[in-house]
Amino acid sequence: MSYQIAIDGPAGAGKSTIAKRVAKKLDYIYVDTGAMYRAMALYFVKNKIDIYDELAVNEACQDIDIAIKYENDVQQVYLNGENVTAFLRTEEVGNTASVTSAYKKVREKLVELQRKLGKTNNVVMDGRDIGTHVLVDADVKVYLTASVEARAQRRYKELLEKNEECNLEDIKADIEDRDYRDMNREISPLRQAEDAILVDSSDMTIEEVTDKIIRLTKVRLTKTAGFCFGVKRAVDIAYENGKENTVYTLGPIIHNEEVVKDLEKNNVFTINTLEELDKIQKGATIIIRSHGVSRKIHQMLEEKGYNVIDATCPFVKKIHKIVDEESKSGATIVIIGNDGHPEVEGIKGWSNTDTFVVDSEESINKLSIDKQKKICIVSQTTFNYKKFEDLVEIFVKKGYNSSVRNTICNATEERQKEAKEIAKAVDAMIVIGSNSSSNTRKLYEICKSECDNTAYIQTCNDLDMSLYEESNSIGITAGASTPKNIIEEVHTNVRIKF
Ligand code: F3S
Repeated sequence: MSYQIAIDGPAGAGKSTIAKRVAKKLDYIYVDTGAMYRAMALYFVKNKIDIYDELAVNEACQDIDIAIKYENDVQQVYLNGENVTAFLRTEEVGNTASVTSAYKKVREKLVELQRKLGKTNNVVMDGRDIGTHVLVDADVKVYLTASVEARAQRRYKELLEKNEECNLEDIKADIEDRDYRDMNREISPLRQAEDAILVDSSDMTIEEVTDKIIRLTKVRLTKTAGFCFGVKRAVDIAYENGKENTVYTLGPIIHNEEVVKDLEKNNVFTINTLEELDKIQKGATIIIRSHGVSRKIHQMLEEKGYNVIDATCPFVKKIHKIVDEESKSGATIVIIGNDGHPEVEGIKGWSNTDTFVVDSEESINKLSIDKQKKICIVSQTTFNYKKFEDLVEIFVKKGYNSSVRNTICNATEERQKEAKEIAKAVDAMIVIGSNSSSNTRKLYEICKSECDNTAYIQTCNDLDMSLYEESNSIGITAGASTPKNIIEEVHTNVRIKF
């Protein structure tokens, strides 16, 4: 997987100098935007495209591919597979680039190429909208700035060294004008991305800024931290519907007190019992959470006249369908999972025949199913894959006439796998999640087994940075019920204080 560092900031903050140094130190590719515009211009020159005919330029854009590589520490630019580095600095190419870079399509093409480079290489990019537009999912986003005074002084010194005539007050005024224009332009105005770390280089040396950015890369947030697809979808549905009216969820939509409290502030309330449900007036909106419910509960809600919104995860829905169809065709249903878990209860409720739940060899031994009869084995989505395979093997050995449907969702497995890998590679690990979340506890156990300095925190308030004074790298992960804002708050604070 590639690693992306986005550095944005106002003119004169030293972005390109810093970006090049960071790239060199980390052995990443510094994406030289200027060289890319020139490579595009070279294509137009070589193919005799009339650069004043914007339509012709637009059309030609689709045939351009650019790659940047480093060979013996020197940047090489490839245009459609050919090394064109030596041809980029000519007057003709420069003049062409200055005309064509103003075209919207050319800029769009450049963004497309930059994203492509960022996907396949470890990159450092600098500009004014890298973190907010080009690489919105960059691993590290930095907003590099310096006071107008500091930037003016730097420029002033530079010009004096070149023996150029200059005036400090004029330089300051120019910088202020430029900042204003950049921050107020219509397309991609300069602004700090919400998840960017502010680095003010006014009183820092180039070395210090470079080291600061490199240190930011030592804090690694797992990509799979937080809500899985199904939970995110259900929570989004709840917030969306709460905007219009008061709505209710059947059981907490997620095992996280912070989210449940926030949902209440947004008109979304939890119903925990059928008695509580009876107190809700007809016509009210009831949301079914991602675990899903049985057909009976579905029907009961509709018969009582509620407006039912089904936020069952599509992966769980698929199991309901399998169970319904297979049981209709006469198969006995076996669910490998934890009896009593709401998801398993829901799955059971879509079967039309005998249904059994097993989670161990002993529970399989206790089954009394006619071995001639067809059984259909499905799994609870969050069941351990290895254990599922072992239990299926037992059914096979016992000679059951079984059809096996692996319905395990790999979101949990992927999260655990990634957390384990990162925990192995860092000096300290932070696991974020509610005390009541079993998958967060499991994540904590996995990380702790790989990294002794692993802490379990619920929110940023529990963060104890004194634990990391001796650490050179920190990993962060979060359980499936931890909301994005809590993860981001912890991530930002760790990076600022580390
Ligand atoms: Fe999540 Fe749905 Fe998988 S709720 S864990 S994406 S089954």
